[in-house]
Amino acid sequence: MFESKLPTVGTTIFTRMSQLAAETGALNLSQGFPDFDGPQALRDALAQHVAAGHNQYAPMAGLPALREQVAAKIARSYGRMLSADLEITITPGATQGIFCAIHALIRPGDEVIVFDPCYDSYEPATVLAGGHCVHVPLALPDFAIDWQRLSDAISPRTRLIVINSPHNPSGALFSRDDLDRLAALIRGRDIYLLSDEVYEHLVFDGAQHASVLAHEELYARAFVVSSFGKTYHVTGWKTGYVVAPPALTAELRKVHQYVSFCCVTPLQWALADYMAAYPEHVNQLPAFYQAKRDLFCQQLAGSHLQFTPTAGTYFQLADYSAIRDDLDDVAMAQWLTREHCVASIPVSVFYQQPPANLRLIRFCFAKREDTLRQAAEKLCAI
Ligand SMILES: Cc1ncc(COP(=O)(O)O)c(C=O)c1O
Repeated sequence: MFESKLPTVGTTIFTRMSQLAAETGALNLSQGFPDFDGPQALRDALAQHVAAGHNQYAPMAGLPALREQVAAKIARSYGRMLSADLEITITPGATQGIFCAIHALIRPGDEVIVFDPCYDSYEPATVLAGGHCVHVPLALPDFAIDWQRLSDAISPRTRLIVINSPHNPSGALFSRDDLDRLAALIRGRDIYLLSDEVYEHLVFDGAQHASVLAHEELYARAFVVSSFGKTYHVTGWKTGYVVAPPALTAELRKVHQYVSFCCVTPLQWALADYMAAYPEHVNQLPAFYQAKRDLFCQQLAGSHLQFTPTAGTYFQLADYSAIRDDLDDVAMAQWLTREHCVASIPVSVFYQQPPANLRLIRFCFAKREDTLRQAAEKLCAI
């Protein structure tokens, strides 16, 4: 047997909880995907492009028509005029974009700062590049940056900081002020930024997403990642994009062209058509998901779960200590699935070192109204 390059990596909790939900027939509010379909016009466009013979390799950087649509959306949303040729790359999901950005930058011995709890792909990508993740916990209960801890974590080996707003799993949002403080902290140092903004359009209660794309100083040293899967309710299409200044984009593409070379051609045509025909889609998303959040939270008000309605993403955290304080969160998520037929994700799995007595689970509310009502009914009965 050879020595594993990722000895601590097993099957992810997302796969395991979805499997358990399927085995037990539980309502699956664990993994982050909708139980409803993407727009009909988008699916029709895909069928048309397949039938029209758009089935051979696309250009390595992405279909020009789709990159132009992404540039137009960014101009409308964040006021930044980008070169679709030099700054936008279409990738097979945000995950592959993250992987390529990390591999473009990280050399053996480099340090990458991540904030815990964090999405699970940053660390394996870093380790495979020979780097090392330095985990900085976000401050509870608001999952805010602890600026002193961040400042202490920066070393001469720090090459990259990964941020994620709106944040999975907490739904917390970075403010413009946070971005300014971050810029001040890394000014004059050889540190880059990976900004995971896959939930950029899922912000609630009138809040505005503070994108790195709208921050002149940070953008100059950033890779900004987003996901068509999240924005257009088609997570199974696994198509995303990375935006970065020309020099960084050139390095990213050197990796991307040997990891996958290009993305699925008819998917890109369909997304380009849909974005051109329905530019208002992204403006409607906050209200669309806020209605789901509000329904779920109203229905849960009668339960023994404690929560504050999430500020962004399609995830709602809940403290279950009033129900089963004796169970850790992994055991609680399993118990809830088996005994009460609602699957969730334990928050401790997003940490290198979870805080003691963390009693939080994450529900995904990207679900049909009847799914949310049924889940809440089961949770209220406990
Ligand atoms: C924070 C975060 N980043 C990236 C991704 C991956 O997006 P994609 O499916 O486009 O690869 C996800 C998916 O859950 C996520 O939650």
